[in-house]
Order: sequence, then structure tokens, then C-alpha cells
Amino acid sequence: MIPVKPNICAINTYTTPWAALDRTEYLRLDLNESTQPLPEYVLESMVRFIRDTGVECYPDYCGFYEKLSSYCPVPADWLLATNGSDQGIDVILRAFLAPGDEMVVARPEFAMFGNIANLLDAKIVGVPYAEQFQFPYETFHEAVSAATRLIVIINPNNPTGTPVSLEYIEWLLLKFPTIPILVDEAYYEYTKTTSLDLLKRHDNLIVLRTFSKAFAMAGLRIGYIIARPELIAHFEKIRGPFAVNSVALAAATAQIENQDPMQKHVEEVMERSKPFTREFLSASGVSFNRGCRELFPNCRARDRSFCFSSAITQDSGALITRPATRWLDPHESWETIRDAPGKNCHHRISVKGAGVLLCKVMTKTCGRMTMIRRIGFTKPPSMVMPMPNAIWA
Ligand SMILES: Cc1ncc(COP(=O)(O)O)c(C=O)c1O
Repeated sequence: MIPVKPNICAINTYTTPWAALDRTEYLRLDLNESTQPLPEYVLESMVRFIRDTGVECYPDYCGFYEKLSSYCPVPADWLLATNGSDQGIDVILRAFLAPGDEMVVARPEFAMFGNIANLLDAKIVGVPYAEQFQFPYETFHEAVSAATRLIVIINPNNPTGTPVSLEYIEWLLLKFPTIPILVDEAYYEYTKTTSLDLLKRHDNLIVLRTFSKAFAMAGLRIGYIIARPELIAHFEKIRGPFAVNSVALAAATAQIENQDPMQKHVEEVMERSKPFTREFLSASGVSFNRGCRELFPNCRARDRSFCFSSAITQDSGALITRPATRWLDPHESWETIRDAPGKNCHHRISVKGAGVLLCKVMTKTCGRMTMIRRIGFTKPPSMVMPMPNAIWA
């Protein structure tokens, strides 16, 4: 065998739970993707770009940065487009973490942070979330040590949906002025909460965003880093010159030019689907924790089928993703929970604006929780359902 570095050998490959299945046939409720189709004018902008400019040339970022700097707003040289914010995470961690260096993050965190830190042989100092997924305000900063080279705040976090107050972020920036603090704002368009204003006062702040979520472009792979130009210049060396393809740049530019469809989707999720779901769960006597666009019903194993099959029977647009228990206790899998009535567990309900028909189809096709869980994962071919977009139409 050709030897590969031991830390790479020790990392598990990210395998998708749906393995060889064609995911386009599924409702896909598992990865916080948008249920919205791309607006027509964004599709047209991509086609126009391919037809008129062509893809035989390497990408040119200038026009995109000009638009993005009006959206953010920061000067263009404070921005770096990346191949999804996954690549942004990779670039930033590579810039600061050498083997043995520490990265402080509240746990459970978005998986990519741990994967890349492991790849770099860095040490992850994970501070557990407090009761009911609250951010650990008391203990988080105490985990920062002389070996800390990066502090990560995911605001709001995936998978827990936990928000972090801007006051606390600024307090951290002041307390640790020589340690870079990365704030991941993948869900900014939903929360409308951003640390960007702090960037004027604190040069150790780095903000990360994406077009994958509210802008419905997860498949196009485009995100961006916002930071002081001197940091951006270093990040650019790590990212490489042509990491983001020109069709994604054209689509993202069109999205910024007309944000109405994105805003409508956000409004539907945050102002209608989510309050409705919240009320429904309360009325059903199910306690829950609040996330950004998620809710976390806190139910006992034996209650689950009732709670979820009822939830989707309503016009709630509340859709279920993964059980969260395994994030909280790695020794407990879904199966052990299922066989252990009475144990508390959490499920992430990723609130989407999919509407009545979607819920009806779901109810008809999968009346029980075990089935619902399969929607995003390994639904047998006999259960294949139309995509949400097809249902809308
Ligand atoms: C908090 C957070 N950050 C980053 C990402 C990565 O998104 P992308 O690489 O699609 O931009 C995700 C995706 O789920 C996320 O939830």
C-alpha cells in the first residue's frame, strides 16, 4: 500500500446516507436545502452567460464582487468568493491551524469544521451546548487557551439552530484581539442578524456566508468570506485562482440584482410556516426548543409517531430531518432510541414553506415517523414521491 498520512487515514470518508439512490426523486428534507426552485431570471442569466460569454474562459470575479459589495456592504477587496462556504471553512482553517493548534467551537457543530481540523491535525476544543441547546455563554471563552489559534462561532448553528448574541461576539473580539474569530452566517438571510458591523472595529473578525440556503443554489457551490483585505489576500493564496465557476458567479450576480423571490421564501418560512408549526406543537402539548428556522420538539420515544404524523397532517410545512440524539450522545443511535421507550430525544424540524399539498402527500405516503425519517435518506423505490417543486406546480 502507498502510505498516506496517518491523520488522513484516521478520518472517515463523508458518505451520503442515500448511497446509490437518485436523490432528485426524494423530498430531501435532510440537508437544510431550499425547497424553492431557482427564479426564472436566474436560470436565464446562466443560459445567457453560457451563450454570450461562454465557459471556455476561466472565471472573472470582478462583476460579482462589485454586486456583492453592494449587498454586504463592504469594499470589494474585503470579499473572497469560495466554492461553497465549505471551501471558505477549509481556507480559513488552513490559514490559522497547524498540527496541534487548538480550535474552540461549541459542540455539536456543523461537521465540516471538525473534518477539516482533523485533516490539519489540529485539536478541536468542543464546548458542549448548554441546557436546551442554549449557547454556552458561561463556559465557551474559558476553553480558550494559549494554544488556541481560531475561535469558531456558528450563528445560528447547524444542527442545533442556536443563535449567539452579537454582544457576546463583540465581547470575544475584544477579549481575544489576537485570535481570529470566524462567524459562520450560512443562515443570515433567515435571521437578518449579522456581525458585519463589527468588522469595522475588529480586525480579528472573519464572516462566512453562502448562496446555498435562502438563495437555493446549493448545487452551484458558491459562498464567500468577508474580512479585512490583508486577510483576504492570504486566503486567496489558499483558495487558488479559479475555485468558483463562472456560471455560479453569473447566477449569484442575478440573485443580488433581484432579491424579491429570496425574500418571499424567507418570509414564508419565518413568518408563516414557523409560527404555525410552533403553535401546532404547543397546542399538541409537545415542548420544543427554538432554532433559527428549525424547531426541536422534545418528545419521548413513544410519542414520536403521534407528534410527527400529526404535525405533517396540518398545513404546517414542517418537515423532519435527522434525530438529534446521536449528536448529543454518540453512543445512542436511532435504533436504540426507538427500542427504548421513555427516553427523551430531539428531532430537527427544518421548517420549509412547502405548503398544503406537500404535507398531504407526505401524510398519505408516510403516516409514521419511521417512514418520515426515510424521506431524506433511504426510501425504497416503491415509496418514491414527487419533488416538492413538482407538487407545487
Ligand atoms: C452552518 C453551515 N455552514 C456552512 C455550510 C456549508 O454550506 P455550503 O458549502 O453549501 O455553502 C452549511 C451547510 O449546511 C451550514 O449549515
